[in-house]
Amino acid sequence: ALRTPLVVGNWKMNGLKASAAELGRMIEGYGPELRWKVQMAVCPPATLIQTFCVVALGSRIWIGAQDCNAQQSGAFTGDISAEMIADCGGGLVIVGHSERRTIYAETDAEARAKAEAARRAGLVAVLCIGETEAERLDGRAIAVIDSQLSGSVPDGATGSNLVLAYEPVWAIGSGRTPTTAEIAEVHGHIRKWLDRRFGKEGERIRILYGGSVKPANAVEILAIDNVDGALVGGASLKAADFLAIAATY
Ligand code: G3H
Repeated sequence: ALRTPLVVGNWKMNGLKASAAELGRMIEGYGPELRWKVQMAVCPPATLIQTFCVVALGSRIWIGAQDCNAQQSGAFTGDISAEMIADCGGGLVIVGHSERRTIYAETDAEARAKAEAARRAGLVAVLCIGETEAERLDGRAIAVIDSQLSGSVPDGATGSNLVLAYEPVWAIGSGRTPTTAEIAEVHGHIRKWLDRRFGKEGERIRILYGGSVKPANAVEILAIDNVDGALVGGASLKAADFLAIAATY
């Protein structure tokens, strides 16, 4: 297939050492018939990346981080670099998540610099974009997506170093999701934008949907045109739910 489906779990600020058992159950459930159809990844808090990489060794579940600093090293108290994530055995990093944009005022330019840092470290960047509820109600969803795309997608993006995640801010953790038609519209729009910007290579870049994905709605959402997988928050914390979402494929 042109784009292998990808289901990424973003654990946000949840999980202690004991959560390795939950990862263990995910690994157990990620059998050959599932592995063949869908790539799974888990992004725990930074404190657990190393442990999870060891636990997941040989399982084919990718482990990643939820953010990185755009610099390789230096005086950035509290931050970790893409190189450090790769050094632990991580394979991906989420950048530009709406919680980073809202709580820490991160900009498109910063998300872009982080995606570039990820590429230099050999990581896949999962770059998040998405409109707020006010922007959607104003009829500006597509315009916002366009400006986020031009501001944050790096020049050297390929299907191997970049994954996009469309996450409408109002759908995150709210239990609300856009309609199938709304998701199809945005994903189709992003797909066309990638084609224009990167030509053939753009077709290899996956576009995930994120925002209140759970087993009950995964069948419908993951079947939408140009939805190449999901970025899952809450429902990725429990192995049964996370596996049920992936098993939709
Ligand atoms: O990164 C994940 C998203 O923010 C979605 O979170 O599935 O809890 O709505 P959620």
